[in-house]
Amino acid sequence: MRYAIANWKMNVPPEGIDKYVEACAAAEPAAAELIIAPPFPFIAELRSFAGDRRIGVSAQNCSDQISGAFTGEVAAAMIRRAGAESVIIGHSERRKIYGESNKTIGAKLVRATEVGLLPVFCIGEELEIRESGGTDQLLERQIGEALEIASGAGEMVVAYEPVWAIGTGRVASTEIVAETHARIREILRRSGQPEAPIVYGGSVTPENARELARQPEVAGFLVGGASLSSAKMLQIRDALAV
Ligand code: 13P
Repeated sequence: MRYAIANWKMNVPPEGIDKYVEACAAAEPAAAELIIAPPFPFIAELRSFAGDRRIGVSAQNCSDQISGAFTGEVAAAMIRRAGAESVIIGHSERRKIYGESNKTIGAKLVRATEVGLLPVFCIGEELEIRESGGTDQLLERQIGEALEIASGAGEMVVAYEPVWAIGTGRVASTEIVAETHARIREILRRSGQPEAPIVYGGSVTPENARELARQPEVAGFLVGGASLSSAKMLQIRDALAV
């Protein structure tokens, strides 16, 4: 299975949610599954607009707790109940801005899979780490520490998002993507997730998607900026048909 995941972050597409979903629903079915990750309040709305059409709905985060006195948090079971089938976990913005650790992310992976949400588990290095040659070690830690906690978790998607490529227009080269995805595959084999599809994220556009989609071990894309246009998102999804 290949995935084209639209991470709207804390934005609503300028064309409006209904027009966006209409455009996606009208498009020809494709080889890759389209999943839209809106901010929490739009999950139910998106699910009902999408109806039984082949559009997946994802949250962008979930709590590491089941329920209780955690003001402002949203539990995985609530996300499931609102109609989402998947949840993005450990996005670099969550790690960097909100201080999420590998252990917290591991707990979130458990929370998601125990209620039947497919986690999209994000990993990726900062520029200084890449330049100092520490990428492999960092990815090893991000995956190892989280999956040690989530060792019994079921199916998941892994998203490789180099932090230096997110929102910068500086997409990773096809060589870096191919090499890093291969390395991630090795780590996943040793960490109990040998089959998890690996998607790439970071300045993906309709212009660069086709080339990236041809790289081995690229099972799809996690898209930020370009995902705010249904036309661009559909072109990116269609690039995965190669
Ligand atoms: P951009 O596509 O805007 O670089 O964002 C990538 C991302 O963070 C998706 O989760």
